[in-house]
Amino acid sequence: MIRAIRGMRDLLPPETSRWQRVEEVTRQVFHLYGYRELRLPLIERTELFARSIGADTDIVTKEMYTFTDRRGDYVTLRPEATASVLRAVLENGLAKGAGVKKFYTLGPMFRYERPQKGRYRQFHQINCEALGVDAPELDVEVILLLLDILRRVKLGEMRLLLNSLGCPECQARFKAGLGLFLINKEGLCEDCQRRRETNPLRVLDCKSLHCREILQHAPVLRDYLCPDCAAHFARVLGLLQRFGVAYVEEPRLVRGLDYYTRTAFEVTAPGLGAQDAVAGGGRYNRLAQELGGPDLPGVGFAIGEDRLLEVLPADLGQDTGPDVFVAALGEPARERALALLKELREKGLAGEMDFGQRSLKAQLSLADRLGAAFTVLLGDRELATGLAQVRRMATGEQQQVSFTALAAFLGEQVKAG
Ligand code: HAM
Repeated sequence: MIRAIRGMRDLLPPETSRWQRVEEVTRQVFHLYGYRELRLPLIERTELFARSIGADTDIVTKEMYTFTDRRGDYVTLRPEATASVLRAVLENGLAKGAGVKKFYTLGPMFRYERPQKGRYRQFHQINCEALGVDAPELDVEVILLLLDILRRVKLGEMRLLLNSLGCPECQARFKAGLGLFLINKEGLCEDCQRRRETNPLRVLDCKSLHCREILQHAPVLRDYLCPDCAAHFARVLGLLQRFGVAYVEEPRLVRGLDYYTRTAFEVTAPGLGAQDAVAGGGRYNRLAQELGGPDLPGVGFAIGEDRLLEVLPADLGQDTGPDVFVAALGEPARERALALLKELREKGLAGEMDFGQRSLKAQLSLADRLGAAFTVLLGDRELATGLAQVRRMATGEQQQVSFTALAAFLGEQVKAG
């Protein structure tokens, strides 16, 4: 038998109804904050990600699904959505005019990481991007939006971690300081020995325990912020306090992508083990220019939907059964059942029948298994009298209803619950 590829998984019912519920809530919240949906290609030119995420990041050096297409062009399955959002916005002229432009996009991303709990090679993100304005108030609105989604889907305990990564000038000064700190440190992993030269900031994102130990005493970016970046960060923190949002300042938070400037954040949730970041994001004021576009500051986040679903309550988004199951015996009754189902669905009721030619008992047990609220029994006798038997499955209570009144009767009963 052919099996799914390692790190890729099937999402199946009833789990898929939990996903639908999360996405339904998410879309409602995005609407409340004025965001509109983008649906973007899953595959882009490799260069787009290499230039935006950063040549020294783990994502670009080790984790991308990159291959040549039939023409020999390098293409990559998207490892994240921000680069694609910016590409699409610039290409389609969506950023024209003053003011903030707000977009969201949902869908699968691909990273060739070692699969483990909460880490997949195809995973799903809920992605939010607000473009055009470099204001701390917008950073705060984006964070409030993120927390709003997480609260409405009933994520219990969570922690908001915050840092400022400064502007390119702060980062240049910090990199020099960090470079000096790292210069004679022994025992850095091979990757970090290289990064120490090429991009010392990436050393801070190293997962190796030994590198982490060395970094405990490394300088932190906060001490290198210019007055503008420091004021921006102070304003973000001040506003979060004003809105009663609990956060933890995390001076070593650098994020795994190179494009961030100023505000950077993550939300973690207990119960996820080592991969405890449910969402991550921040401001990226230089990304549009890196991609050859105009000055277009931005801020956003991505929620890891797979991880989020792992820690949400099991009863989120009940996988409900049909409103009505029609059990039919014999061909004329099956035809009548099809007609009744058509009428019920036109009224907005969910209905099902058994298309096999099985006994009444077998059909009733299927209705039970599906969790139908009502079952209509149709056989030769019912066809002859024009009266169907309607059974309320929860109580077993049964009642005769004429065919002409059946759809209206069921509609009322279902609505009444
Ligand atoms: P990221 O931190 O790389 O940021 O990913 C965001 C979230 O996606 C993570 O916090 C995690 O929940 C989830 N995630 C990442 N990799 C995996 C994986 N292999 N398996 C399961 N879940 C995973 C970004 O992608 C940025 N584009 C976010 C952003 C948007 N920044 C600004 N705008």
